[in-house]
Amino acid sequence: MVRQIRLFILFFSISGAVFGLVSCGKVKNSSSSDGGSVVGTAEFVSARDIIGTKCLSCHSTWSAYSSDDFVKKGLVFKGSPANSTLYTRIRGNDLGVAGDMPTGQPNLSLAEIKEIKAWINSL
Ligand code: HEC
Repeated sequence: MVRQIRLFILFFSISGAVFGLVSCGKVKNSSSSDGGSVVGTAEFVSARDIIGTKCLSCHSTWSAYSSDDFVKKGLVFKGSPANSTLYTRIRGNDLGVAGDMPTGQPNLSLAEIKEIKAWINSL
């Protein structure tokens, strides 16, 4: 009986260690305007931080979106900023496509535009 309990404890310690390793690639963003609730790759967390400050005031439904949700909703096309409306609608994008977002607000900086592009290219 004691032996079984020990094996049980051992099993959970190992699964805990494996789980810890698997979740290493994920990043939690503590500086995000969403209080650290955004989880995903480093590329998504950076892009989502910009979306959080520049887009969510109007696009509030996006606040609960994971990286995959943006793809499923057709806003982002994996690996192709040119086919991603979320990118082509940004004013000042580097595709020569006239963007209009964020409406009535200043352009995103070049660095911010690059972060969003890097996320889409990383998918
Ligand atoms: C001041 C409000 C406002 C802000 C801020 C804003 N948008 Fe929008 N956006 C709108 C409105 C209103 C629409 C719907 C009308 C339209 O399509 O033009 C829209 C539509 C869109 C669409 C098309 C949506 C769809 O479902 O097809 C995309 C993509 C988009 N915005 C991207 C962005 C991005 C990226 C940002 C941040 C960089 C942003 N918007 C910031 C008001 C805003």
